[in-house]
Amino acid sequence: MSLQGKHIVLGITGSIAAYKAAILTRLLVKKGAEVQIVITPAGKEFITPVTLSALSGRPVISEFFASKDGTWHSHVDLGLWADLMIVAPATASTLAKMACGIADNMLITTYLSMRAPVIVAPAMDLDMYRHITTRRNIEKLAQDGVKVIEPTVGELASHLEGKGRMEEPENIVCFIEEYFASQNYLQGKKVLITAGPTYERIDPVRFIGNFSSGKMGFALAEECAQRGAEVWLIAGPTSLSITHPLIKRIDVESAQQMHMAATDVFPQMDAAILSAAVADYRPQEFKTEKLKREGKEDFSLNLTINPDIAASLGQMKGAEQTLIGFALETNDEMQNAKKKLEKKNLDFIVINSLQEKGAGFGGDTNKVTILMRNGDHVSFGLKSKKEVAKDIIDFVFHIKSSKEN
Ligand code: CTP
Repeated sequence: MSLQGKHIVLGITGSIAAYKAAILTRLLVKKGAEVQIVITPAGKEFITPVTLSALSGRPVISEFFASKDGTWHSHVDLGLWADLMIVAPATASTLAKMACGIADNMLITTYLSMRAPVIVAPAMDLDMYRHITTRRNIEKLAQDGVKVIEPTVGELASHLEGKGRMEEPENIVCFIEEYFASQNYLQGKKVLITAGPTYERIDPVRFIGNFSSGKMGFALAEECAQRGAEVWLIAGPTSLSITHPLIKRIDVESAQQMHMAATDVFPQMDAAILSAAVADYRPQEFKTEKLKREGKEDFSLNLTINPDIAASLGQMKGAEQTLIGFALETNDEMQNAKKKLEKKNLDFIVINSLQEKGAGFGGDTNKVTILMRNGDHVSFGLKSKKEVAKDIIDFVFHIKSSKEN
């Protein structure tokens, strides 16, 4: 399986098995993953960051601050960036710190900030591994949801024979692939996503637009592709870029162009997510010459209604297709959203309330409520748009019966 585009944080700690982390890095990178290494001070005694950064293609992070210019390494950013964190090798000391939250190095602070699943591959001497304290720490981590790749039995660095050898890098990669395969529940599905604003031309230099950045739609496209779906991303004018091989991007400018592109591809789709902020109206007439002020005190523009993409797709929708809309509201969120859901024949509507701080246009965070056809709804906390996208996709396509977090 390809790990194309997967963001993996690889934690390396002070064990002789650290040399195997170099092979693990190489294998992950070869499979297409982006690997960010975080190494403990003891880890650096066993393997040099130069080797690791050459293999990963990224600077290795070890200290809280970059030594040259004192730039702060943000463990919080890493926690949001990662799709998976793996600590390999994980020493008894690191496992103990993880279990207790002793955040005295960059690796543990990264672990504590991690929003993605975490795997550990312990490596230590057999007596340390079977010690009641280590057993207890591993059990505690497993209870906390950390996945443990058991060490294997064999000759150890101490020349003793027993259980404590870190699993071979090839097998760790298989474990990681299996994890991502289980997340691939949209494989074989086709999803259409509209994103960003539309620009409605007035004359050659002016347009009517809005503050939508497209970030929410792009995050949704990325999440669908990460889960194996083929994505058609119809984007209004935005400076964002996206590179996932499963995403086909169609750039448009106006609502009419977006409508044409969306209605064209929708019949082949399994689902459509309409996150674009489409202009409801456009100038009745496009002036080919720049409009002049010419001493006018007042100026009015005649507007005409744009096609409603969501409503058109709602009419076209077949029994097997799922349609998800957004509702950006400033007041009476539930009633307005419910009306839109019914009028446009949507299956789900994601409500953004502009009354919520950190929600809506432009920013990097959002806070949403998903309303279903039967009137049930589920609300999520304030999160990064990437995480909100994960919640929406998991909820809508994996159907979680209820979730509040
Ligand atoms: N939408 C669309 N085409 C339009 C207008 C809206 O596809 N011309 C979609 C949006 O992408 C969103 C949903 O319809 O998924 C609701 O958009 P919103 O702007 O909140 O609602 P409107 O129907 O435009 O209603 P109003 O502006 O009166 O709130």
